[in-house]
Amino acid sequence: MTKKLLAILGSSHKSGATGSMLNYAVEIARQKGWSIDYIDLYEKNIAYCNGCRTCMKTQKCVQRDDIEEIARLLKGCDVVIVAAPVYWANVPAIVKNLFDRLLGVAIEETETFPKARLSNKQKYILFTACNTPAPFSKLYGQSTGAIRGMKEFFKASGMRFGGKCVWTGQGKKTLSKRMKRRIEKFF
Ligand SMILES: Cc1cc2nc3c(=O)[nH]c(=O)nc-3n(C[C@H](O)[C@H](O)[C@H](O)COP(=O)(O)O)c2cc1C
Repeated sequence: MTKKLLAILGSSHKSGATGSMLNYAVEIARQKGWSIDYIDLYEKNIAYCNGCRTCMKTQKCVQRDDIEEIARLLKGCDVVIVAAPVYWANVPAIVKNLFDRLLGVAIEETETFPKARLSNKQKYILFTACNTPAPFSKLYGQSTGAIRGMKEFFKASGMRFGGKCVWTGQGKKTLSKRMKRRIEKFF
């Protein structure tokens, strides 16, 4: 059966660092016969989470906008890649809001710990980029901050970690061969 990739871009730069990583992953997945759904968050209409928590019961947000399409694609994919740059040692607000709006898609509230609503047969892969060069990107919690923020959502959702790619430092214009090889191994 054809495998489904959901590729989510959380940067305003389509061909920036994270965009290039995501584009390359999409290219490889396509070559391998995967079906691709590509979401550019900056082209979507996604209101802020209002914190009502209705979705914890209904699995649906009370606000009807583009989150419905993303929720449907997330539930049905085999692999999701979120590509998001580091903003203040975290993810950009637009990516954080995506996770906020998917609260009830990811977890069900119980008396004790939240229960995962997605499947451990589904994998998530994370791409990030920051100006801080390695190893300071890690030592100062820059890239690790963004990865940690994204993992928080996916770990709770029940999905399985498939790997990550981190682009550090300024001045690189294109994807390195090493990064390309790393991305190719995901498919
Ligand atoms: C609002 C804002 C906040 C940023 N915060 C950080 C930061 O905390 N640490 C860092 O190393 N780089 C930071 N950067 C730089 C970006 O992470 C970097 O330019 C990244 O490569 C952009 O990725 P993109 O080309 O995929 O958009 C920030 C950039 C912006 C616009």
